[in-house]
Amino acid sequence: MTHAIYPTLFSPMTIGLREARNRIAQAPMSVCYADENGIPTPAMAEHYGRRAKGGAGMVITENLAISVAGRQMPLQPMLKDDDSLDAFANVAGEIKRHGALAVAQIVHAGRYAGPWSEYEKARRLAPSPVPFELLPGKTVTPAEITEDEIEQALSDFANTARLAEKAGFDGVELHGAQGFLVSSFFSPVMNRRKDGWGGSFENRTRFALEAVRRIRADVGRDFIVGIQLMSDELRPGGWSLDEATSLIPRLEEAGIDFAVPVVSTFETLKTPENAGLFARPTFQHEEVRAIRRFATVPIFTNGGIRDPRVAEDILARGDADGVALARPLFSDPDWPEKVREGRVCELRFCDCTEATCLRTQLTGSRCESWPKAAAEAGYFGYQA
Ligand SMILES: Cc1cc2nc3c(=O)[nH]c(=O)nc-3n(C[C@H](O)[C@H](O)[C@H](O)COP(=O)(O)O)c2cc1C
Ligand code: SF4
Repeated sequence: MTHAIYPTLFSPMTIGLREARNRIAQAPMSVCYADENGIPTPAMAEHYGRRAKGGAGMVITENLAISVAGRQMPLQPMLKDDDSLDAFANVAGEIKRHGALAVAQIVHAGRYAGPWSEYEKARRLAPSPVPFELLPGKTVTPAEITEDEIEQALSDFANTARLAEKAGFDGVELHGAQGFLVSSFFSPVMNRRKDGWGGSFENRTRFALEAVRRIRADVGRDFIVGIQLMSDELRPGGWSLDEATSLIPRLEEAGIDFAVPVVSTFETLKTPENAGLFARPTFQHEEVRAIRRFATVPIFTNGGIRDPRVAEDILARGDADGVALARPLFSDPDWPEKVREGRVCELRFCDCTEATCLRTQLTGSRCESWPKAAAEAGYFGYQA
């Protein structure tokens, strides 16, 4: 039945060959509830299941590392072999049990890979050895990724997608933003290669397209393949919105079923011009609108969407096909159900000034807005 106040938000949507019950997705948020070996704990399954129980149509997990070389944080989940399959099946099962599509975000952290505690020792892979400030006052120079390592990373992406399918996920989202490996190839600033992986637009986008093709070839046709796509690097001489709009039809040809455009990298977020970006309402929506004009697959808008009326307006105008909410669903997993039931005044808002979720990431994220018992337990999911 059509919803009286939010008819678009609560209409079903087709993603690839599957259907989501509404147009609200949990956007990926690294909560790091895995163990030291990257194996999901029961808390991780409960955490994601709880987001599905709260009514999201699609739950995209945090970024799962595809390999040790591509892992960023000490408790980040990692899906690289059969050893962790049962634990990941538990995560996918909890999401699907509550009626949402389960999608695993997959990443090679590239230049941002860990371990940060030994920041000068790690071999971080990037298209070119361009130095950058990893942590305040700590500059590192990533290693230039070799042809063999490129081949390894591409086959690891396909392997992780296959494992995700085997674990029962409905799909994967390739992490192609924020400066991680895939998006570092896009950027003329981070990628200064003179071989077939750098230089022209075709060469800089080759890694992403090849990753999508390899994943698509190795999974079933009904398995969803999405991408989080860097829409603009927000840096002079960097990857531009024009390039992102040119890439989207090629990604579709390669086999993607949806995209979530996202601006900036960890480095460009720190520049004075971009300070406070994450706090602004709908802060990357103009880029989404631009990209959607060139897309035929569903495009999700993300970033600074809190108010369900804003979400409905965006979708009703046809600016995007779905909304992906990260912090709002972290602070209140029941956001979709409360909105659907007209209980907007009961929403637990995401409004802390110093983001506790980011600050606590290395040990398992917590939210400032959770009820005390949930914050003490370390996750919201254990509550009914
Ligand atoms: C604590 C935290 C962890 C995040 N982890 C991820 C991640 O694993 N993968 C990703 O693509 N984006 C990640 N993001 C970015 C979010 O997906 C999203 O783009 C951003 O928070 C803006 O959306 P929002 O305003 O709905 O929170 C993270 C954001 C936060 C605050
Ligand atoms: S209230 Fe704070 S800790 Fe919670 S999601 Fe929002 S920014 Fe993160």
